[in-house]
Amino acid sequence: MTVPVKLPPPFTLVSLDSVDSTNEEARRLAEGGAADGTVVWALEQTAGRGRRGRTWHSPKGNLYFSLLLRPGCEPSKAVEIGFMAANILADTVMASVPAAARVTCKWPNDVLVEGRKIAGLLLESESSDDGLVDWLVVGTGLNVISHPKDCRFPATSLKEEGANELALERILETYCQRFLAGLVTWRRPGFAAVRRAWLRRAHGLGKPLSVRLGEQTVTGIFKDMDGDGALVLVVDGRERRITAGEVFFDPFAV
Ligand code: BTN
Repeated sequence: MTVPVKLPPPFTLVSLDSVDSTNEEARRLAEGGAADGTVVWALEQTAGRGRRGRTWHSPKGNLYFSLLLRPGCEPSKAVEIGFMAANILADTVMASVPAAARVTCKWPNDVLVEGRKIAGLLLESESSDDGLVDWLVVGTGLNVISHPKDCRFPATSLKEEGANELALERILETYCQRFLAGLVTWRRPGFAAVRRAWLRRAHGLGKPLSVRLGEQTVTGIFKDMDGDGALVLVVDGRERRITAGEVFFDPFAV
């Protein structure tokens, strides 16, 4: 397959018609020694994965890609890259949808348009014996021409939102260019700047939300995201920090 995609260095593209999962392929490449900046892009996935072990339906027409990074940082710092990537994804969506559309970030790593999910990120990593991240795969799924109709959380696509750019190649280029700039910000001034940008478009900030933590559901007011990327909820007047879980909003409150 020849695809005219121009990615800025150090990104190098591996483009595939079909693959089980671009995250899985990126992991295989990482374990084989592939370089920092390898981008795996596939037109379709036969076993696309979402967070929390879910399936990410991946028909042709939407964007599925994974960035292989070797940031050489502590695992806790790698989490920060997920928020940076969500900011970049939100910027990329904003550049394409009509200016009036409300593009927000849902904790931890989703992008919404008018409260409906348009994109999600799946981060996977492996550490070396020294405890530092050996490789980090940032997998991105963006609904471009279609979206699932029967999911727990309402979804949308760029096409549905009247976007002016539906060419996968161009969207991938824009994202990768912005991602490089995002990495520079993340390195310095650091996560504080990433966090501020994320909070500016955090979905439901100051509003009630529920987080599903396995069998348990916690409901509170979404007060903040802290300097470690944890969700800060006020539950019965006390702050509670949540590092993993699935967030649901009261549709009448946000
Ligand atoms: C989520 O919102 O649950 C995360 C979805 C991540 C999907 C992308 S598509 C490209 C990459 N390969 C995968 O198998 N998953 C991620």
